[in-house]
Amino acid sequence: MDQEILKVENVTKKFPGVVALDRVSFSVRRGEVHALVGENGAGKSTLMKILAGALQPDEGLIYLKGKEVAIQNTQQARDLGISIIYQEFNLLPDLSVVQNIFLGREKFGRYPFLNYQRMAQEARDLLTQLGAEVSPYALVRELGVAQQQQVEIAKALSVNADVVIMDEPTASLGEHEVGKLFQIISSLKERGVTVIYISHRLEEIFKIADSVTVLKDGKCMGTYSVQELDEMKLVKLMVGRSFSETFPPRGKERGEVILEVKELSCPPLLKEINLKVHRGEIVGLFGLVGAGRTELAKTLFGVYPHYRGNIVINGKVLHLTSCRKAILHGISYVPEDRKEEGLCLDLSVRENSALPIIDKFKKTLFVDDQAMDSMIQRLVEALRIKTPSLRQRVKFLSGGNQQKVVLAKWLATEPRLIIFDEPTRGIDVGAKAEIYQIMRELASRGNGILMISSELPEVIGLSDRIYVMHQGKIVREFPSTEQLTEEEIMVYATGLSKV
Ligand SMILES: Nc1ncnc2c1ncn2[C@@H]1O[C@H](COP(=O)(O)OP(=O)(O)OP(=O)(O)O)[C@@H](O)[C@H]1O
Ligand SMILES: [Mg+2]
Repeated sequence: MDQEILKVENVTKKFPGVVALDRVSFSVRRGEVHALVGENGAGKSTLMKILAGALQPDEGLIYLKGKEVAIQNTQQARDLGISIIYQEFNLLPDLSVVQNIFLGREKFGRYPFLNYQRMAQEARDLLTQLGAEVSPYALVRELGVAQQQQVEIAKALSVNADVVIMDEPTASLGEHEVGKLFQIISSLKERGVTVIYISHRLEEIFKIADSVTVLKDGKCMGTYSVQELDEMKLVKLMVGRSFSETFPPRGKERGEVILEVKELSCPPLLKEINLKVHRGEIVGLFGLVGAGRTELAKTLFGVYPHYRGNIVINGKVLHLTSCRKAILHGISYVPEDRKEEGLCLDLSVRENSALPIIDKFKKTLFVDDQAMDSMIQRLVEALRIKTPSLRQRVKFLSGGNQQKVVLAKWLATEPRLIIFDEPTRGIDVGAKAEIYQIMRELASRGNGILMISSELPEVIGLSDRIYVMHQGKIVREFPSTEQLTEEEIMVYATGLSKV
């Protein structure tokens, strides 16, 4: 157990304007679960991409099983026994699940024919272990984010690796799927496989990790055994100040109804949904993966015009046939799948944030650049977006910082009804608190907020009221969240109790 499998020595990686890694050294023991934590932009993914051969370090050495190695490409990393689950999925949307899992490592039957059946069977076995309900023949583009993440995980596990790197594997999984993944991690560990695990959900670290390495601004702050840490200590090492994750006080008064949904059905999933959101309120929408939360959000945003029933905004029945129409009526939607739906990766931080608010800063023909920049700068600071400048292209930001840009973009618009789909996914602890604060402020200024989240503490801590969904229906409303426990919500979300 104490045998060292991997050692990194003085690894440095610079990008224009950023030192992503600054002489980082750490080592990992065989068969342990080694967590890597740090704020958004701390350098975690960069370090892992170097180990996986996707990036080359500027300086420094890597030792594997005591031998110095140069990992020049991803194929070589795989041959050395290192496999990785990328934070930004690396799947090809137009290929099937099997094709993605075995890409570049196809299994042959009688040459030159591929043995599809065998690959499909293996893929199916892996996906079943993960608790994924995904057909091996489905095209990746037809899958939701949680399922895509499961495919990415299955792909990494299909290689018999000695070291499996997991970069935020649970970001878009629900509790149930996370449980399955943890079972797999335990069985990997039993087989002597080493897991390097990145997550912003700190409670996960305490559940499964043996040791933790902390990165802060590209520097290594040391490796600790989980026994010598608690959440407070860990946060202090990551953020540099002590800090407790608190939620802003709940809303005092709520105003008139801003959104009313009556008997909304939308095939194939949504059935007879009734719900209301008032001004001044944050309403939580909880459900397990596949319960229909995102489908509901998208229907309210005009994505699925074939719904039946009524969507009423400010007393007016709307027929939402497009997102444009939804936006015109003051509805905005911060999507779950931000890379696909939320950002123009080739545009700058400034351009992305400005897109929906540019009209606000239009002075006759011209845009008041200064006012707009100062507004964006304020949001960048509030959310602690780590970027060398407002003009940096978004594709060069870390995963979490990209998410923050999407939020900045919508937080700046002040629509009347904002639907947040997993607003803090992949976001570090410090910025989470800021986001909660901003959401509460938006509500207290008279906007209505509907928040989808898979994190129960967040749903309970931030919402004034909660709806629980199960299999396309709303199965329970909790009119107040003051005394609510996670178990009470789970009972309804899992369908164990019917109204
Ligand atoms: N290709 C690139 N070009 C320029 N800068 C980059 C590039 N990749 C990463 N960076 C920068 O390097 C720093 C470290 O990024 P990295 O993705 O490693 O962070 P992270 O710790 O994984 O963060 P997160 O928790 O948000 O995923 C960030 O400031 C990021 O903007
Ligand atoms: Mg990352």
